Amino acid sequence: MRKPIIAGNWKMHKTIGEALELANGLKRELCDIEVVDIVVCPGFTLLEEVGEVILESNIKLGAQNAHWEIQGAFTGEVSVQQLKDLEVKYAIIGHSERRQFFGETNEAVNKRVKAVLKAGLIPIMCVGENLAERESNKIFKVIEEHVRCGLKEIEKEEVYKVVIAYEPVWAIGTGKTATPQQAQEVHNFIRSQLSKLYDDNTAQTVRIQYGGSVKPDNIVDLMSEKDIDGALVGGASLDVKSFAAIVKGSIFKKG
Ligand code: PGA
Repeated sequence: MRKPIIAGNWKMHKTIGEALELANGLKRELCDIEVVDIVVCPGFTLLEEVGEVILESNIKLGAQNAHWEIQGAFTGEVSVQQLKDLEVKYAIIGHSERRQFFGETNEAVNKRVKAVLKAGLIPIMCVGENLAERESNKIFKVIEEHVRCGLKEIEKEEVYKVVIAYEPVWAIGTGKTATPQQAQEVHNFIRSQLSKLYDDNTAQTVRIQYGGSVKPDNIVDLMSEKDIDGALVGGASLDVKSFAAIVKGSIFKKG
C-alpha cells in the first residue's frame, strides 16, 4: 500500500510573517496525522524560519528547486547541500512553471533529480502536458518523454524514492481540475511506463501525485482513483483551512 503524500507548493507567495502564520496554523491543525506524508514547499527565503516551526513535527520541509552541482558559479540557483543545511527533505523538480517560464529542459530535470537523490532528499518530479498538446492528442507522447528522460540513469534501487507529480498545465491555477477519470488515465499510463523502464513491482511502489486546482471538495474523488497517491497543491495550500482539509480528505481507504 502506497502512503498518501500531500505537498503544498507555496510558489512565490508569502512574506516571513505570513509564512510563519501559515506554518503554525498547519502544525496545529495537522499534528496528529501520521497516515499521510505532509510536505510544505515555501520559497527559498522562507525555508529556515518555516523549518524551525515544523521541526520534529509530522510536516516535512520541501524546496521548489535544486541545482545539480554541489557549489559553483550558478547565480540565482540553490544547491542540495544548501538545502540539506536547512533540514529540507524534498525538492520539487521540473514544475511546469520552471519548464514554461525558465526554459527548464528534460535534461536539466534529470540532472536535478539525480542530484537530489544523491544528496538523500526526495525529488517530486513534475510531468504534464499543456492544452495544445492535449488537444492535439500528444498527451501520452509528452508524458512518456517527461518520465523516461527525467528518470534517465536512475536505477531501480533508487527510483522508488522518487515522487512523480502529474500536473496537466491547463489545470494549474485555472480552477479547471482534470476529472478523476482523466487524471487516473494518465496516472495509469505513468505506472505502465515505470513497469516498462523498471518492472511491475517497482512501478507499484512509486507514488504518483495529481496536481492542478486540487481543492478540499475534489480531493476525495481524486484519491479514490487507483493510481492517485496524493496531491501537489498550489493555490489551496496557501490557507490553513483549505490545505488541512485537503490533507484530511486524502485519508481515503481505497478498495
Ligand atoms: P494549483 O497549482 O493547485 O494552484 O493549480 C498546482 C501546482 O502548480 O503545483
